[in-house]
Amino acid sequence: MGFLKIFFVFIFCSFPWPTIQSDFETYIVHVESPESLITTQSSFMDLESYYLSFLPETMSAISSSGNEEAASIIYSYHNVMTGFAARLTAEQVKEMEKKHGFVSAQKQRILSLHTTHTPSFLGLQQNKGVWKDSNYGKGVIIGVLDTGIIPDHPSFSDVGMPSPPAKWKGVCKSNFTNKCNNKLIGARSYELGNASPIDNDGHGTHTASTAAGAFVKGANVHGNANGTAVGVAPLAHIAIYKVCGFDGKCPGSDILAAMDAAIDDGVDILSISLGGSLSPLYDETIALGAYSTTQRGILVSCSAGNSGPSPASVDNSAPWILTVGASTLDRKIKATVKLGNGEEFEGESAYHPKTSNATFFTLFDAAKNAKDPSETPYCRRGSLTDPAIRGKIVLCLAFGGVANVDKGQAVKDAGGVGMIVINPSQYGVTKSADAHVLPALVVSAADGTKIRAYTNSILNPVATITFQGTIIGDKNAPIVAAFSSRGPNTASRGILKPDIIGPGVNILAAWPTSVDGNKNTKSTFNIISGTSMSCPHLSGVAALLKSSHPDWSPAVIKSAIMTTADTLNLASSPILDERLSPADIYAIGAGHVNPSRANDPGLVYDTPFEDYLPYLCGLNYTNSQVGKLLKRKVNCSEVESIPEAQLNYPSFCISRLGSTPQTFTRTVTNVGDAKSSYTVQIASPKGVVVKVKPRKLIFSELKQKLTYQVTFSKRTNSSKSGVFEGFLKWNSNKYSVRSPIAVEFALATKYSDI
Ligand SMILES: *[C@@H]1O[C@H](CO)[C@@H](O)[C@H](O)[C@H]1NC(C)=O
Ligand SMILES: *[C@@H]1O[C@H](CO)[C@@H](O)[C@H](O)[C@H]1NC(C)=O
Ligand SMILES: *[C@@H]1O[C@H](CO)[C@@H](O)[C@H](O)[C@H]1NC(C)=O
Ligand SMILES: *[C@@H]1O[C@H](CO)[C@@H](O)[C@H](O)[C@H]1NC(C)=O
Ligand SMILES: *[C@@H]1O[C@H](CO)[C@@H](O)[C@H](O)[C@H]1NC(C)=O
Ligand SMILES: *[C@@H]1O[C@H](CO)[C@@H](O)[C@H](O)[C@H]1NC(C)=O
Repeated sequence: MGFLKIFFVFIFCSFPWPTIQSDFETYIVHVESPESLITTQSSFMDLESYYLSFLPETMSAISSSGNEEAASIIYSYHNVMTGFAARLTAEQVKEMEKKHGFVSAQKQRILSLHTTHTPSFLGLQQNKGVWKDSNYGKGVIIGVLDTGIIPDHPSFSDVGMPSPPAKWKGVCKSNFTNKCNNKLIGARSYELGNASPIDNDGHGTHTASTAAGAFVKGANVHGNANGTAVGVAPLAHIAIYKVCGFDGKCPGSDILAAMDAAIDDGVDILSISLGGSLSPLYDETIALGAYSTTQRGILVSCSAGNSGPSPASVDNSAPWILTVGASTLDRKIKATVKLGNGEEFEGESAYHPKTSNATFFTLFDAAKNAKDPSETPYCRRGSLTDPAIRGKIVLCLAFGGVANVDKGQAVKDAGGVGMIVINPSQYGVTKSADAHVLPALVVSAADGTKIRAYTNSILNPVATITFQGTIIGDKNAPIVAAFSSRGPNTASRGILKPDIIGPGVNILAAWPTSVDGNKNTKSTFNIISGTSMSCPHLSGVAALLKSSHPDWSPAVIKSAIMTTADTLNLASSPILDERLSPADIYAIGAGHVNPSRANDPGLVYDTPFEDYLPYLCGLNYTNSQVGKLLKRKVNCSEVESIPEAQLNYPSFCISRLGSTPQTFTRTVTNVGDAKSSYTVQIASPKGVVVKVKPRKLIFSELKQKLTYQVTFSKRTNSSKSGVFEGFLKWNSNKYSVRSPIAVEFALATKYSDI
């Protein structure tokens, strides 16, 4: 499948959805809360009739397809927002706007989908460390919003699993009941309630098993990446909320309905590997649902998006969400192409030949030979019509809306014997190891240029592809994935995002054998890539922390993960990006997750939930916009708003530092040793003076809170663009609590700005 999911994001972000021939569309309608109704018990029926009262009198209309359809409520929300999702025409919405208590109605957004060796790469070892301390995540429930699940997969076996905790109120959808067990404890599906929770795509099965799959011996794809597959929290329970169809579309009304249910069901962690277009927080479906979810003590872990390495591409960036970027493992599934002139280039591929021999075949450059240049270089099915392809190794360009495995199928169908996929230059060293249908590999743009130069320079260019299989021990790992979305955070410039990075490149996890892209492997596992894959790793880590520290709030868990993250790679050098340059702070946030250290962070930054109101007012949102998130009437004029960087967040992002120094306070809570003292260590970003008061924090008991002040001042009057990085660390004789600092200078456009 390779980078297929990344395609979804690229394609669906840039083009509007085709609209179905109907005047009716699904709207998300916010209304004012009927205070009296909501606060009384058994309010739900009353809430429903309150919502119904907003439906227009002219209930039905003839749709453009000629059918009569009635305005109807699809979902009545009671946790994530005050309001409902309804099928309405534009006229009916206009009519509804006149009603008392109406706040807003917007067409729902359609979001899109954004894998063993990973646990040991993360330092998780059986009967040791954080796995032992947390009891493998025992008793914690991870809700997964995705494409559903294949329940009878060995990764979801409940051998050795305890029954779900008493607080669990969830269900397994009617005819699915016998599919659930003590591992898979819940399965709901949406799409107007008709769909089965069965995963027809593979994405949901993959993400769920990554977060909390059971131990499965001998997991591999074509013999590659062979080993024991296991989720990050193998004793955690899984609850599935199927919100995406086979087409990769995930309707906003379904996502909100799933979050609404997950709150009542009693999940502890929500894992959401989906995203959409970047919008203000009050207008982002997942941010809106996650606000109330977090308020109820549930940690929401989300993928950062696959729109990297473009700057300002980070998705799911609300401060109450854990936003996860993607990086590599120290594992390569190596393949090599050798040209007739003796040059060799290394690539990756999960293809494994039954017998490996170094036969040379003629090369065929699909781009050079293209009749229609917009089509053929990408080796789209049906586009390779040249009979000369027969018996040759075909060069194809990556992307173009065609997954690498499908390119290979197209080449095979056209009679080709091998394929070399050439990445775009911005992909750097990031390569996908796909389960190809013929001998094939992915190479970098730089190597691709040399291969094409050779191919087009002589009459009979030849090459051979050989497969070296799984190689562990890349000292440069983790490397930030090219596709991992980057800051700055457009929704809130003063909050650093992504928060953290985790494994998301060439991840092996559970997969349905029935799914198209996997038919050739007949394997119950597949190797795919994306921030969709890094998110469930962090959901699993959060479950481990929740299990060993049941009293930790979502903000505390997040702080523990962020302040203990690694900023160095296995070779003890700063973490690199896809260009093999040191990764910047907008690529890695706090750094790469280190579960063992996160389990014992020393100090944590809790974010009191009340602080989000002054924070949201500080974003200059209107009262009604803030009210949508808070589910109540808000008057920002009566709120002492705070700048974003004042939120008690475990990182610092000063988005417009001018000549006036900016001071913020932070409060840390002692969760390490009762009696302990910490001294501050500061690495100031270039051109900035960072001062901290006091420089020493002395704790005498656990849970004690102490506050410090940090002042950022600009060192010179020169305006420089770009981000400057540093950090602030509180060190005791045992702990080191690190907060990254990102500073951008206010660019002086007028004298008054200097
Ligand atoms: C459940 O029932 C629906 C509709 O009757 C059917 O489409 C679906 O395949 C069934 N699912 C299972 C797991 O049997
Ligand atoms: C996978 O590893 C196991 C244990 O080392 C071994 O028994 C098995 O044959 C391997 N499978 C493949 C396909 O390499
Ligand atoms: C090598 O493999 C190719 C097919 O992939 C086959 O045509 C050829 O005969 C094989 N050569 C040897 C020496 O086995
Ligand atoms: C909100 O408005 C105030 C006053 O105009 C301005 O100083 C501040 O920078 C704005 N905040 C944001 C996040 O844009
Ligand atoms: C908000 O509060 C201000 C100051 O107290 C007041 O003047 C204004 O009328 C209030 N607005 C609303 C909509 O209640
Ligand atoms: C900025 O600094 C330069 C020298 O470093 C000085 O000549 C100039 O007057 C300063 N500009 C302002 C506006 O202070």
